[in-house]
Amino acid sequence: MIEIAPSILSADFARLAEDANAAVRGGAALLHVDVMDGHFVPNITIGPPVVASLRKAVDVPLDCHLMIENPDEYIPAFADAGANWVTVHQEACIHLNRSLELIRSHGMRPGVAINPATPVQTLGEVLDIVDHVLVMSVNPGFGGQKFIPSTLEKVRKLATMRNAKGVDFRIEIDGGIDLETIGAAARAGAEIFVAGSHVFGKGDPARNVEALLKAAQEAILQRA
Ligand code: DX5
Ligand code: ZN
Repeated sequence: MIEIAPSILSADFARLAEDANAAVRGGAALLHVDVMDGHFVPNITIGPPVVASLRKAVDVPLDCHLMIENPDEYIPAFADAGANWVTVHQEACIHLNRSLELIRSHGMRPGVAINPATPVQTLGEVLDIVDHVLVMSVNPGFGGQKFIPSTLEKVRKLATMRNAKGVDFRIEIDGGIDLETIGAAARAGAEIFVAGSHVFGKGDPARNVEALLKAAQEAILQRA
């Protein structure tokens, strides 16, 4: 199933509820929350208090992408704030299995993210315990960057690994997704598309989500 996860990173934080609900009206299945700590990535964004406010303002699951060091320390706070999905970076987790189990033990859906330079093979031993794998199609840290085409091959490889292992995670892609790039990502096998600047950068977020959804669905039909 194709789903759009607008990243609130590009929303107007002073009007967050309105922007988020506009994206939901356009068909956003979940909202993507980019959490950055100024250590794992060279930028600082938001944390659990904003997740708690957003939880009260919207009715869709909150997909929290933790670009932070020591994510285990903060997983309980995200659970308390009402996060539904929590994604940690493979590169930030020395004990990745433990981090993913910790997320699940707090009643949330665990996911793992990989940077563009990290091979998908590094995830072989956790694919049976994640609900989703997030393939970064830009280097994490900022919205509005250019899509890195070589990441499409990683999406294809993950889909192949999923079949070979008979497991059942979803493939999410994040970074530089717009009307130009979403078709190729969908054909490669991505199912959940994070988009920040394309949704909130200009125009009506609802219309922008609708257009992305349509483009991804059309690309899949062409593939069939
Ligand atoms: C980058 C974040 C992305 C980003 C996507 O570090 O993980 O979610 O906000 O923004 P766009 O769609 O503008 O590339
Ligand atoms: Zn993200």
